[in-house]
Amino acid sequence: MLKKILKWTGRTLLVIVLLALGYYTKAYIAIGNRKSKVYPVTPVKLDIPTDSATIAQGQRLVTTKGCNDCHGKDLGGRVLFEQDGVGRLVARNLTKGKGGISKDYSTDDWVRAIRHGVQQDGTPLIYMPSAGFNKLSETDLKAVIAYCAQVAPVDRVNPPSEIGVGATIMADLGELELFEAEKIDHNAVPPLAVREGVTADFGKYVSQICTGCHKPDMKGTPGEGGTPDISSTGKSAGWTDEQFFQTLRTGKRPDGTELKAPMPWQMTAAFSDTEMRALRMYLKSI
Ligand code: HEC
Ligand code: HEC
Repeated sequence: MLKKILKWTGRTLLVIVLLALGYYTKAYIAIGNRKSKVYPVTPVKLDIPTDSATIAQGQRLVTTKGCNDCHGKDLGGRVLFEQDGVGRLVARNLTKGKGGISKDYSTDDWVRAIRHGVQQDGTPLIYMPSAGFNKLSETDLKAVIAYCAQVAPVDRVNPPSEIGVGATIMADLGELELFEAEKIDHNAVPPLAVREGVTADFGKYVSQICTGCHKPDMKGTPGEGGTPDISSTGKSAGWTDEQFFQTLRTGKRPDGTELKAPMPWQMTAAFSDTEMRALRMYLKSI
């Protein structure tokens, strides 16, 4: 009897292992295909200004769009996440130093990466949140590139991003977004420039970088470890304007609790008064 049970337990285990292997093989192939897909994008032709006002504007945007959060203050790149069995996410060294990507970079390559989320060969960048930068106005995009292209070289050789077993499964199940190029309308034509002002329109423009986490409707994702609703139906809509600004500037809510990672409040802390007020106006309107 015992022998029979053991035999059956063994068989059941074997079936489970085979099913798991089958699923993993399927996921591995699917992710491999998505990673090697070539996006035939046509980068918009841009003349990059080199005047100091544009570079200063670019420096500000690199902070307020979060580039510094991932690529570092010096844009030399860093490992964002690394765990055995899961994988490694690495924001590349954007400078012309040793290990940097921009020594042989053209303006087209910058546009491809920032606006389309793809690299020189047209395959998608991993975990680079380009969907939030895709609608940057041409003027703002030029300023970002102008600043990045002249930044001081940093010698830092970072290891490459790697999609391990864990990341493959999470990405296949839709729990982890690895390729933002998939979400982008590559034929969209963003505005040449946007009118800055305390308007819901400008607030919507500013809020594009929040959509990756808080979702396009700003209602977030429910449940443990999710992202809160920051639209008019969220808790933050009940705060006063001052409390809302304070929270995004200091990383502390009115009740004293801290905004935990990955909420990039160092990025929102650099927002101008106009950007904050416009953002607030837009979030309360939806
Ligand atoms: C959430 C983190 C994050 C933010 C924010 C971010 N990046 Fe990245 N970026 C990455 C990662 C990760 C990679 C590497 C992708 C890979 O390994 O495939 C990357 C790659 C790049 C590349 C490399 C392209 C190539 O061809 O090798 C460029 C250029 C770039 N980012 C520019 C920017 C700029 C400009 C901003 C701000 C407007 C920005 N990034 C914001 C994470 C980020
Ligand atoms: C990389 C993901 C990410 C991005 C991008 C992001 N957030 Fe968040 N945000 C979060 C997470 C996660 C939390 C919850 C943090 C916690 O649990 O303490 C949060 C919390 C908040 C809160 C507090 C809400 C509450 O009810 O407590 C506000 C307000 C907020 N975010 C606004 C913004 C705005 C505005 C932007 C864009 C300018 C933005 N966030 C961009 C992930 C993000």
